Amino acid sequence: MNIQNRISLCDGWEFSPVWSEAFLHGEGEAEAVRLPHQVQDLPLHYASTDQYERICGYRKALRLPEQAVGKRVFLQFDGAAHIASVFLNGKELCKHYGGYTAFRVELTGLLQPGGEGLLAVRLDSTENPEIPPFGYVIDYLTYSGLYREVWLELRPQDYIEDLYVTTPSTRELEARVSVAGRPRPVRLTVWDTGSRCLASAEGPVRFRLQVPGAEPWSPADPKLYLCRAELLDDDGSVLDAVEERVGFRTAEFRADGFYLNGEKLFLRGLNRHQSFPYIGYAAPAHLQREDARILKEELACNAVRTSHYPQSQHFLDACDELGLVVFTEFPGWQHVGDARWKEHALHTLEEMILQYRNHSSIVLWGVRINESQDDDEFYTRSNAIAHRLDPSRATSGVRYLQKSHLLEDVYAFNDFSHTGSNPGALPKSQVTPDMSKALLISECNGHMFPTKTYDNWEKRQEHALRHARVQNAAGASGEHAGCFGWCMFDYATHKDFGSGDRICYHGVLDSFRNPKLAAALYASQGEAPVLELGSSLDIGDYPAGNIPSIYAFTNADEVDLYKNDHFVASFRSKGWDGLKHGPVLIDDLIGDLLRTQEGFSPKKAEVVRKLLNELKKTGPSNITAAMKLRMGYGVVRYGLTVKQVADLYGKYVGNWGGEATRWRFDAKRGGRVIASRTCSPGSVLHAEIRCSETVLTEADTYDVAAVRIRILDEHGNIAPYAQLPVRLEASGAVSLVGPDTVTAEGGCCGCYLRSEGASGNGSLRITVQGMEPIVLYFEVRKETRV
Ligand code: GAL
Repeated sequence: MNIQNRISLCDGWEFSPVWSEAFLHGEGEAEAVRLPHQVQDLPLHYASTDQYERICGYRKALRLPEQAVGKRVFLQFDGAAHIASVFLNGKELCKHYGGYTAFRVELTGLLQPGGEGLLAVRLDSTENPEIPPFGYVIDYLTYSGLYREVWLELRPQDYIEDLYVTTPSTRELEARVSVAGRPRPVRLTVWDTGSRCLASAEGPVRFRLQVPGAEPWSPADPKLYLCRAELLDDDGSVLDAVEERVGFRTAEFRADGFYLNGEKLFLRGLNRHQSFPYIGYAAPAHLQREDARILKEELACNAVRTSHYPQSQHFLDACDELGLVVFTEFPGWQHVGDARWKEHALHTLEEMILQYRNHSSIVLWGVRINESQDDDEFYTRSNAIAHRLDPSRATSGVRYLQKSHLLEDVYAFNDFSHTGSNPGALPKSQVTPDMSKALLISECNGHMFPTKTYDNWEKRQEHALRHARVQNAAGASGEHAGCFGWCMFDYATHKDFGSGDRICYHGVLDSFRNPKLAAALYASQGEAPVLELGSSLDIGDYPAGNIPSIYAFTNADEVDLYKNDHFVASFRSKGWDGLKHGPVLIDDLIGDLLRTQEGFSPKKAEVVRKLLNELKKTGPSNITAAMKLRMGYGVVRYGLTVKQVADLYGKYVGNWGGEATRWRFDAKRGGRVIASRTCSPGSVLHAEIRCSETVLTEADTYDVAAVRIRILDEHGNIAPYAQLPVRLEASGAVSLVGPDTVTAEGGCCGCYLRSEGASGNGSLRITVQGMEPIVLYFEVRKETRV
C-alpha cells in the first residue's frame, strides 16, 4: 500500500546478540547496524542454526518529527524473525508471533512530536515450538533478525486503514475501504500509468466501478493501474489518501485447469525460497525483485510458488509488474502443533491475506501447512478465513498425500512419482478425491534427484530431463492446472536434510542463481534463443570413450550437427507434446560422414552407420551373435575387412587415441541459425561476470547488487571442472558481503556488494586464479525522500 507520510526507520539501529535489561535501557556495548539485518552472516556451506538462533536485541533512538502534531503515529515492522517484543522507553508495547508477516503498533501519545524515545525490540530467533513453522524438522533454514524494513507512519486522526481492490471482470473493479475514526465520504479513482483517470466514484466504503478503458493483466502483458482512495473532509478537501496497484484480471480454477481472463493457461513455474547466501532472508528490494526477473526473463516461467511462507512485498511487487502468477501460502512444514500453535498459524494466515490480497499476481492461497496430514477442523477454519477475507481467490493446500480430504478449491500435490524411467506424473484420478476440482503439481523432482553444478554430465543432463518429463506429462495431460518444479535455486537447510553441508542441491540454479543445465529446460520454453547441450562430448568423461546420446535443450526448430565442420545430421524434438519446445535427442554422431568423408555409396554408408551405432550401444567387447552376423554381412557385401570396421569404430565412435574433435551445433528457427555452440576441449578460460546492477540506490534502505561469476572456455561453454579460487576485493562506496575468496564450484560462484550509506563510486576487483583481474565499477546514489 502506498501511504503518504511513511518514513523509513531502517537506519541507526544498534544490535546485541544477547538481550538484557541493560540493553533495553540503552546501556552497554552494541553494534551499529542497518536494516534489513540478519543476526550473523552465514557461510555458504555448513551453515548451522547455532550461528543465528538467539534471543537478541535491537534498539534505536526514535525521534518523532514535528509534523506528527495532531497525527496518529504507527510503527510498522515488515518482518521480524520470529517472535518480537517491542518496547518504548522500557515499556512493552506489543509482542508479535511469526517471522513472515508484518505487524504494527500505535505510538500515538507515547512520544511527543519533536521528542525522542528509546525503541527496543527483543527478538527471539530460536525455533520456538509454539509457533509455525517450528515444532519438528524443517527442510530450509528459517534465519533471524529484523530482516525487512521498519516504518514510521503519520496518519490523520481519521484515516484509511485499508483499501482492498479486486476485479470481478477485466473491465470492472470492486473496492472496499476501511476507515478508522469518524466515517466520512471516500473518493475512489482509477488511473492508468499515463496519469489518466479512467473512472471515479464517491461513496462510503464499498465501490463497484466499470472501467471500460482498462486492458487485462496477463503474463504476456502485465498492465497495471492505480486505484486511489481519498478520505474527504467536510469541505471536500483530502484528509488522507492511499493507493494500490491493480491488474484487471480474472483467475479461475476449473476441473480441467487454470483460466486467466477466461482463457486456459498452463502454469509453468518453480518454487522459490526467499533466502540468499550469507545474508539469509536479509535481502533488500533489489535482490528480491531480481529473483522475479530471473524467473520471468531468464527461466521463462509464468508462475512461481512462494514456498513455504509469504515472501517479501518487493518480490510480489515485481511479480505484479512482470506478470508472474503466484501461489502463496502461510508458513509451515509438515508439522502441525497444539491448539495454541494452530491459533498462531491462523492469525498469521489472516495477516497474510490482509497484507497480500492486493497483489494481482496472486491467484491462489495455500491454507494447509505444507505437506501436513489431514486435520479437518483446522483446515475448515483456515479455508473459512481465506474465503471471508478474500472471496475473490481460490484456496489450496500442498500435500504429498494422494486422495486426502479436499476442503479447498484446488488439490495441490507434490508429485514425486517420477523416478527417471516411468511416466512423469500420476493421472488425476489417482491423486484427487474430487475430479470436479482442479489439480496442480505444487512440487516435483527436488530431493528425487539432487544435482550439483559439478556433478558429471550424465547427472546434470538427467536432472534437466526429469524436469522436462514431469513438465511435459503435466502439460500434456490436459488435467493439470500447472506444474511447479522444486526448485528455483539451491538453498541452505537444516542438518536433517541436504548433502551433509546443509545445502539442498535441488535448484535449477545454484545458490548464486547461476544456471544448471535444468535451467535451460525452463528457459527454452520462452522465445529468446536458447541452446544448451547435455554434454560437451569429451570422450574421457564416458566409459570406454563412448559418448552416449545427448540432448540439446533449445527452442529452435532443428539442430544441425557438424563434426570438424563437416555436416553430420539434423535433429528435431519428438514426442514432447506437453512442452512448447521439448529437448532434442542427438543420437547419431556419424550421420552423413561415411558418405561425405569416406566416399561410401549411400547404401554402404547406411549399413555401416547402423552397424557402428549399434556397436556403440553395446561396446565392441559385448557383440552379440546377431550383430556378428550383420557385421559379417556388411564385411562381405561391401568388401570391408574386420580391421577396417575396427578403424571406422575408432574414428567415429570410441575415438580413444585419435585427435580431439570439434563439434558444432547450429540451432535453427525458420531456416536461420539463432544460436550456435562449439564443443572442443578448451584451454583458454575466461570469467563471465553478470552484475544485477551497477548503480546502487540508497533510499529506504541500503542496496545490494548480485554478481554472478562463471568460468567459461574459449567456446563460451561452462568449464565445470574449473573449480578455481576467486578473489574479491571491494573498495570505495561499496563493500563486499561474505568472504573475500570463494571457489568456482562447477565453474560457478558469485558475491554480493552493498552500499554503505554514502553516495560515491566504488569498485569490485575479481581475480580468478590464473587470469587477469576484472574490475567492475559501481556508483552509489542517494535518493532523498520528500
Ligand atoms: C518437499 C517439501 C520441500 C522440499 C522438497 C524437496 O517435500 O515440501 O520443502 O523439502 O520436498 O524435494
